[in-house]
Amino acid sequence: MRFLRFPVPVVSTLLASLALAIAALSGGCSKSSDPAPAGAAPKAGAIKIGFLVKQPEEPWFQLEWKFAEQAARDLGFTLVKIGATDGEKVLAAIDNLAAGGAQGFIICTPDTLIGPAIVAKARTAKLKLIAVDDQFIGAGKQPMKDVHYLGISAAKIGEAVGDTLAAEMKKRGWKPADTGVCVITFDELATARERTDGATRRLLAAGLSKERIFRAPMRTADIPGSFDAATTLLTQKTEIKRWLICGLNDSAVLGAVRAMEGRGFGPDRSIGVGINGTDCIVELEKAKPTAFHGSMLLSAKAHGYQTCEMMYKWIKDGVAPAQDTRTVGVLITRDNFRQVLQEQGIRE
Ligand code: GLA
Repeated sequence: MRFLRFPVPVVSTLLASLALAIAALSGGCSKSSDPAPAGAAPKAGAIKIGFLVKQPEEPWFQLEWKFAEQAARDLGFTLVKIGATDGEKVLAAIDNLAAGGAQGFIICTPDTLIGPAIVAKARTAKLKLIAVDDQFIGAGKQPMKDVHYLGISAAKIGEAVGDTLAAEMKKRGWKPADTGVCVITFDELATARERTDGATRRLLAAGLSKERIFRAPMRTADIPGSFDAATTLLTQKTEIKRWLICGLNDSAVLGAVRAMEGRGFGPDRSIGVGINGTDCIVELEKAKPTAFHGSMLLSAKAHGYQTCEMMYKWIKDGVAPAQDTRTVGVLITRDNFRQVLQEQGIRE
């Protein structure tokens, strides 16, 4: 099976760069006065906020943007959406935002280790900064707690995935001794590691033996990356008859589900539970159930709208947001996803 890697971001990044260049130019030409001096609150209409995401092709990030747009309309600020798929693009985008007259930005960085460089650049450019989804990592590989952050309660949500898998296994009458766990890992990202570690903890508590929990590392955090990781695992562990699947997000689980199907592990012999709930809607809508049982739906609205609102108030009224905000997840399955997605404003 072949997958197209990142067909959209190339275009959207180009468009975004073009839009930024134009914004920067027009900002520079049309303003007769200098930007407001530091400390003075800009007028509501003059507020410009950037929203940078690492994987603009993923539904999760498109939804964050959708809710950010809603905040921009409600509050009356200009939103600049930027697909920043690598560190260079992030740093260039910050320069462009500053040149275009923005006062702050929200970012899910493509690489958490460049956190210190992002902070330094934002400081020089006098831009306020909120990290969303992926927390920056600083000195000593520690999370940069001094950078305002909104993300998920990753360990808890991972544990809920583990509990759901264990419950489904029992419901089907599968014995722990006959079952293996395919843990699609991406340990270089802290929130990913906390999620898969949480799921693993709960599966161990449910009676699965350590020897039957297999970690399959993704090289890239997307469907092809997970497909490849699961395929390698399945090639090695041919003795396993039934599989439980967990991972960082829906894509991580979907890639593994596809790899399993290719080897004859359909819904009767494998169960996957994702995280995000936004990148698996097509899967849940399929007429015939697949092994993808459900997902922990996260709040794209909190991540997209609330972060913008926090930034807006910070710029306009000087009210700094909470230093660390964590959001929760709720399980969606084929039985309830339509209703829950509607309630959360994700689907009509
Ligand atoms: C990470 C993942 C996304 C999503 C967010 C939620 O960035 O890559 O798919 O799960 O976390 O905060």
